[in-house]
Amino acid sequence: MRKKIVAGNWKMNLKCEEATRLFLSLANAKNSAVEVIIFPSTLYLQSFLDNTNKNIQIGAQNAYPIDTGAYTGETSFYQLKSIGITHVLIGHSERRAYFSESNEFLKEKVDAALENNITPVFCCGESLSIREQGKEKEFITNQIKESLFHLSSDTFQKCIIAYEPIWAIGTGKTATSEQAEDIHKTIRSFIAEKYGDTLAQEISILYGGSCNENNAKELFSCPNIDGGLIGGASLKTASFKAIIDSF
Ligand code: PGA
Repeated sequence: MRKKIVAGNWKMNLKCEEATRLFLSLANAKNSAVEVIIFPSTLYLQSFLDNTNKNIQIGAQNAYPIDTGAYTGETSFYQLKSIGITHVLIGHSERRAYFSESNEFLKEKVDAALENNITPVFCCGESLSIREQGKEKEFITNQIKESLFHLSSDTFQKCIIAYEPIWAIGTGKTATSEQAEDIHKTIRSFIAEKYGDTLAQEISILYGGSCNENNAKELFSCPNIDGGLIGGASLKTASFKAIIDSF
């Protein structure tokens, strides 16, 4: 059985006191069928780790692929590992767009994460113009190929994938469950072609993009959707808890 996961990507939101309050309010967010991961600002990672409970795992939104050195302002996978971080988002569309992160650079991040025993949550997804040209499948499978397909089966199976259509992120415009399932199925078949069906069936593929308490149940009931990467709706206790309980 694949892992079911609900992850909260808090992005660059909340000041310390608000973030702490939200985190503590999730303490009893528990559904034994689901793994819950929170990705807060890097600034709050240590204090969340100190206050965490076994219901919630803490991940970082970003990291730099070199262990140590003169890279002012960066935090490495190696450093994150040293405080006990288990997951890192890699390839979020906001990092690709605003920080020019290429598939090639993301490949380095994936390698650095795995070398440090950190699970990459690898994000992929197309823009509206790519979807309008009907090229979304080609685009997404290429993102996966260029950043992940150099991995051996043993390392690839440690990754989690998140499909996040850019046109649905923060827009309130969710992909329909048919659209999302279609892409998730394509991703799984693409993985099966490279690594075999057994491994492809073990990889968790999450949906992200305006997923909320009203649409999560329908999305998560699709056979190839194993949970969600939630932005806006993860910033409200009631919404995020309801999404966790959608399974
Ligand atoms: P959203 O963000 O749920 O606010 O659309 C999802 C994400 O960017 O991970």
